Amino acid sequence: MTKNNNIMFSITPGSYLTGKVEVPGDKSISHRAIMLGAVATGTSYVTGFLEGEDCLSTLKAFVSMGVNITKLDNNRIKIDGVGLHGLKAPQAPLDLGNSGTSMRLLSGLLAAQPFASVLTGDQSLTHRPMRRVTIPLTEMGANITTSSQGYAPIHIEPTEHLTGIDYKLPVASAQIKSCLLLAGLYARGKTCISEPVPSRDHTERMLTSLGYALETTSLGVCIQSGSALKGSEIKVPGDISSAAFFLVGASIAPHSDLILANVGMNPTRNGVIKILQAMGANIEILDQRMYGGEPVVDIRVRSADLHGINISAELVPSSIDEFPAIFVAAACASGETRLSGAAELRVKESDRIQVMVDGLVKLGIEAIPQPDGIWIRGGKLGSATISSHGDHRIAMAFAMAGLRAAGTIVIDDCANVKTSFPNFVELAASAGLNITVL
Ligand code: S3P
Repeated sequence: MTKNNNIMFSITPGSYLTGKVEVPGDKSISHRAIMLGAVATGTSYVTGFLEGEDCLSTLKAFVSMGVNITKLDNNRIKIDGVGLHGLKAPQAPLDLGNSGTSMRLLSGLLAAQPFASVLTGDQSLTHRPMRRVTIPLTEMGANITTSSQGYAPIHIEPTEHLTGIDYKLPVASAQIKSCLLLAGLYARGKTCISEPVPSRDHTERMLTSLGYALETTSLGVCIQSGSALKGSEIKVPGDISSAAFFLVGASIAPHSDLILANVGMNPTRNGVIKILQAMGANIEILDQRMYGGEPVVDIRVRSADLHGINISAELVPSSIDEFPAIFVAAACASGETRLSGAAELRVKESDRIQVMVDGLVKLGIEAIPQPDGIWIRGGKLGSATISSHGDHRIAMAFAMAGLRAAGTIVIDDCANVKTSFPNFVELAASAGLNITVL
C-alpha cells in the first residue's frame, strides 16, 4: 500500500468489549466459492461472501476470464459457472493485490488451461515464496515460471497435459494443497497430497459439496480428474480469523462480555480457541450447528486473567493467521509464552514474528524473536506509534492491544485491513473499542 493511501488507527484506552457482533464472511471460503463456482457447471449462489479486497481480487480475475458474477443484496453473489473447460484467456496480467491465496490457488487452476496467463500483485505479494507451488506443478508437467528469486510475477504457458503426482508437502499449507487439488481436477490420473499436520480443509469440503468425490487417505487426500462440479448454494460462515481479534480484545479488557455470532468452527481452524483456553481465557462455545458444509457456532467471551504457556507446534497450522492476536494476549498475560515450529509466520503478508516483536518492544513488553517462533514475557503496555508494515492482521492485533495500554496507541499503514475485514473499525467501535481513523 502506498503512503499516499495511508490510513492510521488511533486507539485510546479505558474501554472494554460488550454486546453481540457478527464478523464478516470467511476469507478462505469466499475465495474458494468464487473459484469453484466459476468452474462448476450451472449457477452458484454464495451467501455471506466476504467483500474484502483479497476476495475481490479473485472475483475480478474470474470476470476477466469471462465468468459472469453478479452482486446481489446482503453479501450474496451469483456466479454463472462456465464448467471446467470454459474459462477464457485474460487480456492482461491478473493483478491479485495482496492476496497469497488468490495467487497460489489460481496457479494450480491456470497451469491446466489451454491459454497463457501472468499472475502479479502488490509489493508484499511479489516478495512471497512461490516456488512452493511452481515446483510441484512443474513436476505435474506445468509450464510455469517465477523470477530468479522464486517470486511473482508468475508466468504460465499452456502445456499438453498435466499428470497426477503423489506429493508430500514440506510444510502444512492449505494453499499448496488446494493449488494441487485444483490442478488435479485436470491432470491425467490421480493427484495425491499428504501433509505433516492437517491444514484447513475448505477446498475438500467445498469440492465434495459441489458433487466432486475425493478420496481421503490416512496421510491426506487424492483427487481423480474426469468428473464435473455442479453449481450450488454455497454458504460462508463468519471468519474465525477475524473473530480472533475480538476473542483477544474481550479476554484482555476487564469487564468485557461479548457474543460473537455465526463463527466458523472448522476443526482445522480452531487452534486459537484451544490456545486462548490454555492461557486461561473464559470462552464458551454455544449452539454448535452445520452451515453449508462447515461447522458454525456462537461464542461468548468474557475477560479473564491470562497466563503464559508453551504453545504446542501441533496447533500452529490451525491457528496460523491468529498469531498476531495471540501475541497480544501473551503480552497481557502473566509469565512467559513460547512458540516454536512457526517459521511460516516469517513469510506471510509481513514477517509477523519480527514485526510483532518490534511493536511489542515499542510498547514496553519484553519479546524476543526466534528463527521459528517467539518468546514473550507479559507486562504493562505503554503508549507508542506502531507500524503494521501494511499487514492487516498486525494492524488489528495492535488495535486490540489498545484496550490494555496505558496511553494512546497509533498504528500506521492500516489500509490493508480492507483486504480481510472491511468493517473492522465500525464493528470494533460498536463493541466498545475507542478507535479513530486518522
Ligand atoms: C489460507 C491458508 C493459509 C493462511 C492464509 C489462507 C487458505 O496459508 O495463512 O491466510 O485460504 O488456504 P498457508 O496455506 O500458506 O499456510
